[in-house]
Amino acid sequence: MRLKDKVAIVTGAARGIGEAIVCRFIEEGARVTMCDVDKDALSKVHKNVREMGGSCLAAVGDIVDRNFVQKMVDDTLKEFGTLDVMVNNAAITRDAILHKMTEEQWNQVIDVNLKGTFNCLQAAAIHMRKQGRGRIINISSTARFGNIGQLNYSASKGGVVSLTRTAAKELALKGVTCNCISPGTIWTDMMKTIPEKVLEKFRAGVPLGRFGDPREVAHLAVFLASDEASYITGQTINCDGGSFMA
Ligand SMILES: NC(=O)c1ccc[n+]([C@@H]2O[C@H](COP(=O)([O-])OP(=O)(O)OC[C@H]3O[C@@H](n4cnc5c(N)ncnc54)[C@H](O)[C@@H]3O)[C@@H](O)[C@H]2O)c1
Repeated sequence: MRLKDKVAIVTGAARGIGEAIVCRFIEEGARVTMCDVDKDALSKVHKNVREMGGSCLAAVGDIVDRNFVQKMVDDTLKEFGTLDVMVNNAAITRDAILHKMTEEQWNQVIDVNLKGTFNCLQAAAIHMRKQGRGRIINISSTARFGNIGQLNYSASKGGVVSLTRTAAKELALKGVTCNCISPGTIWTDMMKTIPEKVLEKFRAGVPLGRFGDPREVAHLAVFLASDEASYITGQTINCDGGSFMA
């Protein structure tokens, strides 16, 4: 087991990539606090994980709320005694073409994807730097290279790469690594809002000829959280079927 006795928090855990990361972490022996704003969906994942024999805690709330985030970290420390891995996965899309994007669409995406990531990153890092070890894994997107209709989302995901690198530099001498996963098109609910015509174009641009499965991203998260990744920090690793190979 590659994460035996490690304690992790995973945000956006109620479905998709977050749920897959929770399940892979549990399979590898971790104890996990799973966070999501969607109470009903999270309680289903919580039930499944308990049936797998996993040790887990559910934290229902919004990562934009700093009080909630602090309480989630405090509850994790109370329940499991430590925090080794923070996975900042929760994000939203509010797509619109540039000239039609509303201030509300811009603010909502920047709030959840950037401020929410900052809130969780900061709360985890304050604890991890004191304990002298830790792993932070942020989830960006290949949309960071620019995607029509996703000005807000692509800006937020570019920001996630930048904050990963700064946090990695600041935390390196404290024994804490900070890396980023940049998924391509992964088949989750988030993708189901995209018109079939656009999805066809996305699929055609993937050298491996298919969309990814959430577990394929989760395998990479397990590696970055494991002892095997001890000499990797500040990196953004594409998990995209080859879409953005240089
Ligand atoms: N699916 C893809 O193709 C793809 C591609 C690139 C990057 N990503 C990134 O991967 C991550 C997961 O994507 P997904 O496809 O699994 O998304 P998803 O929409 O299926 O799941 C996201 C989860 O985050 C939760 N969430 C949203 N806002 C929240 C908040 N404020 N506080 C707490 N929880 C909140 C939602 O309730 C949901 O359960 C995201 O960061 C996304 O940007 C996904």
